[in-house]
Amino acid sequence: LYRARTFATLPTFLLLGPSGAGKTSLLCLFDNGKPSETRISQTPLSATITLPSNATARSSKYRSENDPSMKKNRQFQLVDIPGHGKLRHFTLEHITKLQNLKGIIFLVDTADLSTGSGAQSDNGLLEAAEYLHDVLLVLQKRYTSAKTSKGPKEIPFLIAGNKQDLFTALPTPLVKAALEAEISKVRETKSKGLLDSGIGMGEDAVEEEREWLGDGGEGKFQFKQMEEVNVPIEVICGNVLGDGTNGVEKWWQWIGDQM
Ligand code: GTP
Repeated sequence: LYRARTFATLPTFLLLGPSGAGKTSLLCLFDNGKPSETRISQTPLSATITLPSNATARSSKYRSENDPSMKKNRQFQLVDIPGHGKLRHFTLEHITKLQNLKGIIFLVDTADLSTGSGAQSDNGLLEAAEYLHDVLLVLQKRYTSAKTSKGPKEIPFLIAGNKQDLFTALPTPLVKAALEAEISKVRETKSKGLLDSGIGMGEDAVEEEREWLGDGGEGKFQFKQMEEVNVPIEVICGNVLGDGTNGVEKWWQWIGDQM
């Protein structure tokens, strides 16, 4: 007996990242093939997108191209959350409420992650690391506060390093290393801040507040520590605009692999 597969809610992916990383440009490119000019966004945008046929969804690997259900199987919803600090409450709300969440894409500007001493460039790295730290901590808490012993389902996480067409962009291994090192510092600063403010030393509430990101929190933070809380992280670089060999194909494929 053949029963058509219907989706109550399309597979959904969240698109996060600091302001100016290129989220709206990526959403437009995925949606209509052109990264149209964008303004600073104030509200979440969302689009229903169809995977190109060369990036097959895992669930349709063995279907024929002519199968009418193929197109349906390649559709997903992409929700773009504005990067501006004041709008981030949308982010946390969305992570915990979204139905059928298949993954999170965190876009960063890899030309704005230099560890040089220029105040301007340091801000880009710090902003990205603080945002990432906070999102990953929400995902970790979702796991550690789960009531069932099995824990909540996996949330694959893609760190998409954008703007590889710019010659000042960092290459993938350095993007990963720079973010891990900066997140380690953010974690350190946050715990010190709580200690210095002396918030209820010794009270139970503090234990919860002080939940550290990553494996016990000793030493350096590494993305692979998040696997323990069911959040596998991959770092893949590309570019929405410009020529360059990277483009967005690997990001399409990552999305297809999660569907
Ligand atoms: P918010 O709406 O503030 O959250 O920003 P955003 O992440 O949506 O960024 P947006 O798409 O508005 O892009 C910011 C700027 O980066 C725009 O001027 C884009 O044209 C530019 N941009 C986006 N992707 C690329 C890229 O791959 N390479 C280059 N060189 N520029 C890019």
